[in-house]
Formats: sequence, structure tokens, C-alpha cells
Amino acid sequence: MKEIKIVVFNDISSIAQKAIEYLSKKINSMQQNDFFTIALSGGSTPKNLFSVISKDYKDSLDWTKIKIFWGDERCVNPTDEQSNYFMAYNYLIKHLNIPKENLFRIRGEINPEEEVKRYSKILEKELNIVNGLPSFNLIMLGLGEDGHTASLFPNQLNLFFSDNYCVVSFHPENNQKRISITGKIINNAEEVVFLVTGKNKSEKIYEIINESKNAKDYPAYFVKPDSGKLIWLIDREAATLLDKSKVSLTI
Ligand code: 6PG
Repeated sequence: MKEIKIVVFNDISSIAQKAIEYLSKKINSMQQNDFFTIALSGGSTPKNLFSVISKDYKDSLDWTKIKIFWGDERCVNPTDEQSNYFMAYNYLIKHLNIPKENLFRIRGEINPEEEVKRYSKILEKELNIVNGLPSFNLIMLGLGEDGHTASLFPNQLNLFFSDNYCVVSFHPENNQKRISITGKIINNAEEVVFLVTGKNKSEKIYEIINESKNAKDYPAYFVKPDSGKLIWLIDREAATLLDKSKVSLTI
């Protein structure tokens, strides 16, 4: 794993600006008929980023060049407040000119085992194939207080290492069924970015970045893309315990 890049940000608007600059550069360097493929994460942290992008940057990009997927989904209806699709649609997608045929939501409302098969086929069909596996241009991940990422939880670490592209998992607290991409797909992405905020995540970040003895209990620790391109975008609170020498950039 090459050097992990850690960017500490003061407020989410600086990350929004960087995200748009990054996407603009990627889209401008793509072939005419190519698409930039991104897997969004769920949870509450991305909401603020999505809000800033849809408010301040909705005309800054050719959004028709982006195909949107999800890294995980709760097994609920797409109109359910808990749905990661529902959150992204309302805070981001409905404000942008993204053709609906470029949206590939995980269908949390159908039989999970069936959806795992269906979504795996979608990944194979829609993504570039690298090292013989579907490869996202970018995967966005969050970090749970327990060290989970996507919907891969510490008490089901075997699912991170599954041979499948997607798995059915269960939230350890409420036993809610989830569908998640696995480490096989995560670590085959061109780039992976963690977006993490809040003091409640600072200990896990410290343990993962410093490879503490507990780190190997956390699925997020095993996110080590073969490309070597892993970026942590964290706010000051989440960076509380990190030695300043570990931080690549503060914006
Ligand atoms: C989900 C996410 C999950 C999330 C983390 C962080 O479906 O909940 O994909 O991995 O990113 O739990 O969530 P917060 O941003 O809400 O802390």
C-alpha cells in the first residue's frame, strides 16, 4: 500500500470544491463515450457534502458523464428515510442533471439474496474490468464508530473477504439486513476515499492509520486498494488524535 493520503478539512465546503475540481479533471480527461463511475456511501456524513454540491455546483460539471452506484444499501424501500438511495436522491441527485439511466441503485426492497446476484451482474456489465474484476473509478466510503465501512461489520469480517462482489450483511445492533459490496470490489477500485467527520470517529481513525493492534478487527482497516490510491478526507474533530506528521494536507 502506497502512502495513505490524509486531508484534514475545516469545513465541508472546501471538500465540495475539491470534489468538483477532481471530477471535472477526470471527466475532461475521459474518452468521448466513457463515463466516470462512482459508488456513493450512505450514512449522515455525506449529506452535508451532497447539499453543498447540489446548491453551489449543480452547473459546474457535465453530470451526464457520471454513472452513480452505491457501495451499500439498507434492505428497505427506496422511499424509506433509512435508504441510502433516498438520502442521495433528495440531497444530491434530484438537483443535478443526471439521466435516470445513469443511476444504479441497490434495490433494498427485493429479496436480498436475489439483489446480490442482480447487482453483481450490474457491476460486471457497467464497470471497467481490471484484474478480471469490476472496477469503480471512485468508491466513497464512510467509517462507523465500530470500524465498519460500507455495510461490512466487525462481527462479520469474513464478508469483507468474500469471493463475491456483493453480500448480504446484518447491522450488529438492530440486525437490519444490508447489501454491501465486498473488499474484492473495494480494493479493485481506481481510487477510494473515506469521508469521515466527528470526534466519535477519531479513535478508530487513529487505530487504523497507526495500525494499532485492534485495527485488524475493523473492516475499514482492510481497505487497501491495489492501485495504492486511498485518501482520507476528515474534519478536524475526526483528526483529533492523529499526529500532525501523518496529515498530508489541511484545507
Ligand atoms: C451506511 C453506510 C455506513 C456509513 C457509516 C458512517 O449505510 O450507514 O454506508 O458505512 O458510511 O456508518 O455513517 P455516518 O456518516 O452516519 O457516521
